[in-house]
Amino acid sequence: VILTVTPNAALDITYEVDELVAHQSHRVTAVRQRAGGKGLNVASVLTRMGHPVIATGLVGGAVGDEIRADLEARGVAARFVAGGGCSRRTVTVVSALHGDATIFNEPGPELTGPGWQSLVAGLDSLLGEATATVVVLSGSLPRGVPDDGYAELVALGHAHGARVVVDADGAALRGALTAGPDLVAPNRAELARATGTQDVAAGVAALRELGARDVLVSCGADGLVLMPEEGAGWHARLPVPLSGNPTGAGDALVAAVAAGLAGDSGWQRTVQDAVAWSAAAVLQPVAGEIDLDDVARLAPQVLVEAR
Ligand SMILES: Nc1ncnc2c1ncn2[C@@H]1O[C@H](COP(=O)(O)OP(=O)(O)OP(=O)(O)O)[C@@H](O)[C@H]1O
Ligand SMILES: [Mg+2]
Repeated sequence: VILTVTPNAALDITYEVDELVAHQSHRVTAVRQRAGGKGLNVASVLTRMGHPVIATGLVGGAVGDEIRADLEARGVAARFVAGGGCSRRTVTVVSALHGDATIFNEPGPELTGPGWQSLVAGLDSLLGEATATVVVLSGSLPRGVPDDGYAELVALGHAHGARVVVDADGAALRGALTAGPDLVAPNRAELARATGTQDVAAGVAALRELGARDVLVSCGADGLVLMPEEGAGWHARLPVPLSGNPTGAGDALVAAVAAGLAGDSGWQRTVQDAVAWSAAAVLQPVAGEIDLDDVARLAPQVLVEAR
């Protein structure tokens, strides 16, 4: 089984308005809500693709109950840990006139030491019960958790014999590296923020200095570059970019990588799937969804080159 860990899960709320105008009141024409947070999106995509997965992380309070209920309704298996206070919400205001989105991200509860320790203990017991081959650590760390929080979870995954993938930004990414995660998957902006260089090769080299092993850099419509610790690199992309909703494309990419590692698929097949799954996610209006027919149609179109 694949385990995804979302330390800072959220309930994503979307308001639609005719026109968003600062300093004014608005009539909301539609409201939607959905469990969110990167690891939950990864688990949702893996579920849709038919891979056994369990989502874990910290959720709490009334918002936590809504997160659990939404995942259950969507058929995504979850084993959350309480102990972190009431979960956060994000609010996205979609302006029909502008055709764009304005996003408000609540920071979420500040975690105390015991809150974080309950997440660690929950993951430890889940790893003991379920034979997880791959653990995915995704997204931001809650406030109050030290920057090396993910390093502790990487080490825990390794102690249970699992391979560990980290998809995080900034200090949380850098802090994870000391524990040697098997694969990290920054996008180009995250790579630049973590290393201070815009150049992909130099950025990957800098991550390696900090302890990274395999590095997959996602490049939006230009696909991905995979730089394994050993052997040749790969560039994979679609010949023509798709238009759609790129939110959550990176999570679908990480889902494909986790499935590839769990199935020992080899890099060529894994990067092909990663491009096909993430491109299929672009065609979906919400993060965490994917259509198997889109994946089947896109996979043969993916261009894969050794580099
Ligand atoms: N317009 C597009 N057309 C086709 N594929 C795309 C497009 N945009 C993104 N993708 C695919 O999605 C993958 C991930 O996109 P991106 O690099 O934007 O990740 P990200 O910024 O980490 O996304 P996320 O916000 O989900 O974390 C890319 O590697 C690519 O394969
Ligand atoms: Mg991403």
